[in-house]
Amino acid sequence: MRLDRTAEWSALAKHRDDLGEVHLRELFAADPGRAERYEVSVGDLRIDYSKNLVTDETLRLLRELAGTTGVAALRDAMFRGERINTTENRAVLHTALRAPEGAVVEVEGENVVPAVHAVLDRMAAFADRVRSGEWKGHTGRRIRNVVNIGIGGSDLGPAMAYEVLRPFTDRELTFRFVSNVDGADLHEAVRDLDPAETLFIVASKTFTTLETISNATSARAWLLAGLGGDQAAVARHFVAVSTNAEKVAEFGIDTENMFEFWDWVGGRYSYDSAIGLSLVIAIGPERFREMLAGFHLVDEHFRTAPPEANAPLLLGLLGVWYGGFHDAQSHAVLPYSHYLSRFTAYLQQLDMESNGKRVNRAGEPVSWQTGPVVWGTPGTNGQHAYYQLLHQGTKLIPADLIGFARPVAELEPTLAAQHDLLMANLFAQGQALAFGKTEDEVRAEGVAEELVPHRTFPGDRPTTTILAPELTPSVLGQLVALYEHKVFVQGAVWDIDSFDQWGVELGKVLAKRVEPALTEGAEVPGLDASTARLVATYRELRGR
Ligand code: F6P
Repeated sequence: MRLDRTAEWSALAKHRDDLGEVHLRELFAADPGRAERYEVSVGDLRIDYSKNLVTDETLRLLRELAGTTGVAALRDAMFRGERINTTENRAVLHTALRAPEGAVVEVEGENVVPAVHAVLDRMAAFADRVRSGEWKGHTGRRIRNVVNIGIGGSDLGPAMAYEVLRPFTDRELTFRFVSNVDGADLHEAVRDLDPAETLFIVASKTFTTLETISNATSARAWLLAGLGGDQAAVARHFVAVSTNAEKVAEFGIDTENMFEFWDWVGGRYSYDSAIGLSLVIAIGPERFREMLAGFHLVDEHFRTAPPEANAPLLLGLLGVWYGGFHDAQSHAVLPYSHYLSRFTAYLQQLDMESNGKRVNRAGEPVSWQTGPVVWGTPGTNGQHAYYQLLHQGTKLIPADLIGFARPVAELEPTLAAQHDLLMANLFAQGQALAFGKTEDEVRAEGVAEELVPHRTFPGDRPTTTILAPELTPSVLGQLVALYEHKVFVQGAVWDIDSFDQWGVELGKVLAKRVEPALTEGAEVPGLDASTARLVATYRELRGR
């Protein structure tokens, strides 16, 4: 089945033509109940989608498209543990990571939930020992610094969640996240740390990732240099998180100090697995479990809520509508929370590594748009940078605005008082983007005629607003699961494999091939003329 040859796709195309340039102003004017009706709730999240360029008919047709493309059937297959990642022949079961104890989720006839909880219990016990000071470093000092070394899904999740949940962290401990193979990353992360008090968590699903293994090797050398070279120190200062026990042992980490996960957890879906070990140490096991419960709540909603009230389904379909029928190329995620400063970076991997695909599941090139460019930074900072383009540029960029009713509890009263101003900005931006300011309104303010076009805001720029009472571990879990399943829905409609990432391979292979040319001036067979010249220039500038 080709998506763009379905009757539902054609119906949506026709509907898009029929809607023409109808403005959000008109849609609201014609329908006083729109704001109440176009709201969906899940857990603590209230999602207002009334400022999207849709009508009841659009939503009905999109739901039909979801029906005909088999979104619900694929969702059920995912939850059942079927191998829906067909190009890697793997199950996709991150939802099992947050299944409550006693649940049954089978992979090849084996219930994986007990193993998930066994690892969670080990993580909790280890985290408690580090947090209480019982786990000692090689010289007998307690651990005060935790450095997570990983990249992609083995970095972005824990690094993001640590920032989000800072108010819940043990402030006596220092956490750093090292990912870049640029030695400067590790250098800056450890330069002010005492090796005797530092624990490294080497997080890598495969334990073969060049960046991570290089950084872990350098971190081990730094540690040994600082502690007098006794190899026995490694066991007290290095633990691993991986699916690959053999490679962990090869690296020299005792597999007793390894926390396991499984090939049915994709890297970008893994921070609620053992990959979250640094986070468990930061916020404690109880808070981590609260976060998992938040994830699970949205999993259950996605699995069981009817299509009209199913939040991830709805958000996914809105993205399909904008990419397919409004030619939107990107999607902005704009949190009105300082703590969510790394949230969009996390979503970039989740969304773009999942849905940045150009062939369908059968391997044929697709002729419809797949995943958008996802971008954004915390709200008010963006307002003073790139929002100009959102308001008056030539591109349609749907955006999510995310905010919280209460500031975090630990803010002192004067700072907490700024929260209303922060949220006023969120509401104002959604309003300005949707409704704009007409030429007549500008003229009525007495603006000189030649400035009227410059000061007019066209509006009609779609936003979805997500509100929650406050930013807690559970709410973070809910938000992440919401986006995970949104990405799932879109991949299902677009008929792509959202769970592989072959597109990252070529660059890795070429980097390995080119490296000897940089270091030794080796001849690299088949190097193109441009790259060969760049390599020569690099060597010249480096004085080689
Ligand atoms: O290169 C992409 C990727 O494979 C991601 O999908 C993954 O999250 C990241 O690398 C890290 O991989 P690993 O956890 O195996 O080190």
